[in-house]
Amino acid sequence: MAILKIARLGHPILSRRAAPVDDPTAPAIARLVADMAETMADAGGVGLAAPQVHVGLRVVLFFVPPNRAAAPQVAQGAPGGPVPLTCLINPRIEPIGDATRDDWEACLSVPGLTGMVPRFTRIRYRGLTPAGGLVDREAEGFHARVVQHECDHLDGMLYVRRMGDLATLGFVEEIQRTRAQQRADIEEAG
Ligand code: NI
Repeated sequence: MAILKIARLGHPILSRRAAPVDDPTAPAIARLVADMAETMADAGGVGLAAPQVHVGLRVVLFFVPPNRAAAPQVAQGAPGGPVPLTCLINPRIEPIGDATRDDWEACLSVPGLTGMVPRFTRIRYRGLTPAGGLVDREAEGFHARVVQHECDHLDGMLYVRRMGDLATLGFVEEIQRTRAQQRADIEEAG
């Protein structure tokens, strides 16, 4: 396994459409997925797409940690619960309904920054696994958001281009400081 170099905003690989994987069970794909998992863990991310490590193939990885799950107390894999590390090859997404929601996103390819991005609240997604299986799930909330964010990378789309209001773009450190101050002000105001 190896930690791979992560491409940053401005690198052309991030704005290209990635190619479908012909054989998801090929050993080279298993190696890529293992290296992506190691790279994502090293960088402290919750998702990574192959173009972010300079590989123009339709492969994404993600998980939903308990603190981002809609229902952290339910079992891993249950609706709204944490989602284990999942690899999707040649994934497809269909929105369920038209509802969208704005929330903060960040990206390992746009280090240090965060911004508010509208995403479909509920989706169904499907993809193949390196073991030759099929993933077919419905997702909502953060789970739906991370899948949409990662799959966007396969079409050369970064979250900053999805933002409704670029005024919300900022450095994570500054925004966290501002929000902490706002919370303190609210508490002081009773
Ligand atoms: Ni990203």
